[in-house]
Amino acid sequence: TYLGLDLGTSSLKALLIDEDQAVIGSVSVPLTVERPHFGWSEQNPQSWIVACEAAMQELHAKHGQEFAEIAGVGLSGHMHGATVLGADGTPLRPCILWNDTRSHEEAKGLDDAEARAITGNIVFPGFTAPKLAWMRKHEPRLFDLARCVLLPKDYLRLWLTGEAVSEMSDAAGTSWLDTGRRDWSERMLERTGLTREHMPSLVEGTEASGELRPILAEKFGLKPGVIVAGGGGDNAASACGVGVAAPGTGFLSLGTSGVLFTATAGYDPVPETALHTFCHAIPGLWHQMGVTLSAAGCMDWLSKLLKEEPAALTGALGETIAEPGRPIFLPYLSGERTPHNDADIRGVLTGIESDTSREAMTRAVLEGVAYSMRDCLDAAGEKPKPQRLIAVGAGSRSAYWLQLMATVLETEIALPAAGDFGAAFGAARLGITAATGADPKSVIKEPPVARTFEPVADKIDAFRAAHQRYKALYPAIKQAMA
Ligand code: XUL
Repeated sequence: TYLGLDLGTSSLKALLIDEDQAVIGSVSVPLTVERPHFGWSEQNPQSWIVACEAAMQELHAKHGQEFAEIAGVGLSGHMHGATVLGADGTPLRPCILWNDTRSHEEAKGLDDAEARAITGNIVFPGFTAPKLAWMRKHEPRLFDLARCVLLPKDYLRLWLTGEAVSEMSDAAGTSWLDTGRRDWSERMLERTGLTREHMPSLVEGTEASGELRPILAEKFGLKPGVIVAGGGGDNAASACGVGVAAPGTGFLSLGTSGVLFTATAGYDPVPETALHTFCHAIPGLWHQMGVTLSAAGCMDWLSKLLKEEPAALTGALGETIAEPGRPIFLPYLSGERTPHNDADIRGVLTGIESDTSREAMTRAVLEGVAYSMRDCLDAAGEKPKPQRLIAVGAGSRSAYWLQLMATVLETEIALPAAGDFGAAFGAARLGITAATGADPKSVIKEPPVARTFEPVADKIDAFRAAHQRYKALYPAIKQAMA
């Protein structure tokens, strides 16, 4: 059997699968986020280990026999966090997370033509390098003691295997990786006062990164020699979960945030559009990813306001999409990454009338998020677009929304049959490739599809025009809010 561990921001999930990739069971252990100051977001790395031990013990208690057969483990986790270790390998301070914005000035300082040429990305405030630049300035004594900087899931790996190792997909989100060459950039490290010595070694996500420490194997009742795979950052691991492993395939995630992810054969960055270009967790592949910070999160907001569950709000619309409505919603409830890279912008609803109904409001929100995902698709410019997107996340439960997305994105959307195809499942699949040496293509496959949504041909033009009206609003709002 194989284990996937996904270190999420709000919980750690452990998922056990068998040789045929059937899910045996899964458990989730909650985690907390500390926000001691405005814009700060931190986690105590020790809490990940405590959660991991608890998850392993619970899985063991529930599925003793299958658990004892674990041969490979894969790791996934929230990206970009800075876990800074001293000479004795213990964290010098709490981990600074992906959604911490304290280092926005340091990010601006690092984000120049050289950084974009080497890393393929804007240096975003959430990325790892600016966090170390912040420490160097504000916590110089601690910075001087730093001997190793690890991404969150890689700190969990250090505990599991005793090895300081990272893999390409997560490393690409640090601003220290030469993303095209899949190696650390000495120049980018030097710009934050670090060297290669501070970095873990690198493997591919499908490869072995080490073996479970004998003391842990004994403690959990596992066989000796359990292989721990490189794994992936949560988005690359999710891609492995839904079988996005061939160039030109992609997925659309409608979670709290929205992600449009496309696997690519080569390294061809477009940093100016705020599209992320990272390595995939599969060797020889990269991926491009547009991120909209509030997607299903916008429906949660509307749901709270109207005191009605999101499913009831979208259910009231039926399944046949209406023409674009007059109200237009900009979904920037917590700023926006792609395409604006604007942490200060906030959302807006225009065009409301005295008889604007709750259905019209719901449609406006669904349409606004769809336009924002279209912006993520357009950010790739003239590059080939995916022919089909696999839909995941809470928002994919609305057939109306998926029909609308297919029409606005002008792309077929496939909804997987019920099942668990998330990051933990993707990580477990990477555990299989690392432990067995199987060809990733034979392991990382698409899930069975329950339903396919095609663009509604006679509405495409109307939605194209509405998207243009939506796009015209950002500069105006930006100016009005300045
Ligand atoms: C990706 C990103 C998030 C985090 C947290 O760039 O910031 O997806 O990985 O889940």
